[in-house]
Amino acid sequence: MNRARPVLKWAGGKGQLLPALLARLPETFAAYHEPFVGGGALFFALAAQRRVGPVFLSDANPSLIDVYLGLQTDVDAVIVALRRHVYDRDRYYAVRALNPADLSLPERAARVIYLNKTCYNGLYRENRAGQFNVPFGRYANPTICDEPNLRAAAAVLRGVDIACRPFTTVLDAARPGDFVYFDPPYDPVSRTANFTGYDRRGFGPDDQRRLRDVFAELGRRGVRAMLSNSDTPFIRELYAGFPLEQVFVGRVVNSKVEGRGKVAEVIVVNLPA
Ligand SMILES: C[S@@+](CC[C@H](N)C(=O)[O-])C[C@H]1O[C@@H](n2cnc3c(N)ncnc32)[C@H](O)[C@@H]1O
Repeated sequence: MNRARPVLKWAGGKGQLLPALLARLPETFAAYHEPFVGGGALFFALAAQRRVGPVFLSDANPSLIDVYLGLQTDVDAVIVALRRHVYDRDRYYAVRALNPADLSLPERAARVIYLNKTCYNGLYRENRAGQFNVPFGRYANPTICDEPNLRAAAAVLRGVDIACRPFTTVLDAARPGDFVYFDPPYDPVSRTANFTGYDRRGFGPDDQRRLRDVFAELGRRGVRAMLSNSDTPFIRELYAGFPLEQVFVGRVVNSKVEGRGKVAEVIVVNLPA
């Protein structure tokens, strides 16, 4: 069986930060929780190392969660639906215009995977009406249906608790001895780097504050948590008093080339190692 890699390209994907994150995980833990799962880079890396027992994955984006639920419940049907999609401009806009509510779960999952593989920059962005609105992307020969990886992903998602819900619900699910990894939407580094919203709801300073409160509360309950975010004065102020380390990564969040490059991020833990 192949090792599963992330199925989706996701803004803020943690590929580059992985070694730093893996090095800072507790040796052992009971359940693993990822309440901003996105592309799930850390979850797939842990699953490849067979380091996880019970797993809880969640995110506020229902389209994203459909992908994991679709793979978990019927990977064959997702593959069949994905094989019907072709890389073509007109077909792209026709699939983008479909109403997810008219599709079955496997069809919804296949639609999101297809759009993710063929849209501009692999971004996920919605308009005010909550419709995916990223334009068609230019690729030499995009792999739309990576069947071995989809099957490998379905295998590691077996038995995983997957749900569309806000990050605050981790307080209901996490037990002492569990481990939580938080990868929230970044606090913007500057006013121009304003990519904070993965959907129309956005994620502002009040959300960042609420998240810090959840992070601290988990620590008081004996649940270890680790969080990554951009290295900004606001984030340093929020997490003053917690063990915090600076790391550098090359991340791509802006479609503008000048917005790309090495940026400082922080990794914070809620309990000393
Ligand atoms: C930085 S991304 C996570 C990237 C992920 N670690 C990866 O490797 O791809 C942040 C995620 O938070 C989700 N999100 C935004 N607001 C949320 C909320 N209030 N509760 C839960 N998830 C939320 C977004 O949908 C997005 O997938």
